[in-house]
Amino acid sequence: MRVMNDSFDPAFGEAWTAPQCAGLLPLPGVWLTLARDANSRPLGFALSRVVAGEAELLLLAVRNSAQRRGVGARLIERFISDSSVRNAERLHLEVRDGNHAIALYKRYGFGEVGRRKNYYSGSSGERFDALTLARSTDIRRT
Ligand SMILES: CC(C)(COP(=O)(O)OP(=O)(O)OC[C@H]1O[C@@H](n2cnc3c(N)ncnc32)[C@H](O)[C@@H]1OP(=O)(O)O)[C@@H](O)C(=O)NCCC(=O)NCCS
Repeated sequence: MRVMNDSFDPAFGEAWTAPQCAGLLPLPGVWLTLARDANSRPLGFALSRVVAGEAELLLLAVRNSAQRRGVGARLIERFISDSSVRNAERLHLEVRDGNHAIALYKRYGFGEVGRRKNYYSGSSGERFDALTLARSTDIRRT
């Protein structure tokens, strides 16, 4: 939660609460990947879920002070390889339209397949669309 609260800007309403995370983590098919520094302090995390051959990257976050150093990219790479180990054929994620992370996801072969209007609700009541991005686990089949 320290990473969550440090990285997400409340203006966009993308972060999850501790009860939301605690409710999800014990469910079948859910896994959490932590990136740590040399002293084992958490730098970032990816929260993911696989159901019936489809994996979803639910959340990706890196502490502000550790951003733009490739940690997010490493977490995406782990999501892709861990999904493959869990026999997922298709990968999905949802991201706020305009989030800088979209460039990063596109670098890993994700493409836009849908849009949810007004999906996120920011701290000042403003609404933001979500884009749904997807790719095959095996990029050659995208
Ligand atoms: C998205 C996020 C996880 C990326 O983590 P990161 O460790 O900085 O990622 P990397 O260093 O591997 O890659 C950075 C790339 O992301 C994009 N990016 C990230 N932050 C950016 C910013 N402030 N401005 C422009 N591009 C940005 C760029 O494509 C960048 O590549 P570049 O550094 O070569 O220009 C991090 O910015 C974050 O935690 N953001 C807040 C939470 C969030 O929005 N998560 C995504 C939705 S769940």
